[in-house]
Amino acid sequence: MKLIQVADYEEMSRSAAELVYTELENIRTLGLATGGTPLGFYEALRERVRQEGRSLQHLHTVNLDEYLGLAADHPQSYHYYMNEVLFQHTDIPSPQTHLPAGDAEDPYAEAARYDELVTRLGVDLQLLGVGANGHIGFNEPGSSFHGRTDVVRLAEGTIRANARFFGEGERVPEQAVTMGIGTILESRRILLLASGARKAEAVRALLHGAMSEEMPVTALQTHPDVTVIADEAALSLS
Ligand code: GLP
Repeated sequence: MKLIQVADYEEMSRSAAELVYTELENIRTLGLATGGTPLGFYEALRERVRQEGRSLQHLHTVNLDEYLGLAADHPQSYHYYMNEVLFQHTDIPSPQTHLPAGDAEDPYAEAARYDELVTRLGVDLQLLGVGANGHIGFNEPGSSFHGRTDVVRLAEGTIRANARFFGEGERVPEQAVTMGIGTILESRRILLLASGARKAEAVRALLHGAMSEEMPVTALQTHPDVTVIADEAALSLS
């Protein structure tokens, strides 16, 4: 595992964008993540792409997860998020951008379809954030390290943490479709970003802890090509 230590959120975002940008010609399928952590990364990446007038037409993207029950045009859906932060600013053809459909009639069939798609495309580089409880994608503590894309229930803490993205009184979905840990581990390369003291325990477990399904992020210890970019606060317990 390669650790890149940075001072703060801004440096994490810039250094991740630089890493992905310089690798772009070697990436056909890019795995993407949502949440607060990669917002600065997407901003830096789209700025770099714009400055250089770089075409991303060759890229296929697959996102980790989507809330169950939210259609693509729902402002809190990850579809919407991805359009806002990246897709609409680039020339990636929209049929090449993929997320699980949160409003699928049969979410289990959708999860199976999505897993097959991700496997067929093969992810060259997967971007990851991490939850305070160590979750990756929406794989909460207790998830199998061999799990495939599935319908899952969010932990209480995750629902509370993600409530900040929803309006007051708006219900945060309690279920999602997420790539499984087994699916994620098949990516050729993984880039995990962590910023802030809230992530310090999960980062400590990733770098120094024992592998345990109670701390999903520790599954990455078995992967041969993981880069972690973490800031001082996220590394404060390491
Ligand atoms: C969310 C997402 C994850 C994300 C994590 C951390 O629930 N499903 O992909 O990495 O929680 O979120 P944040 O970056 O906002 O702290």
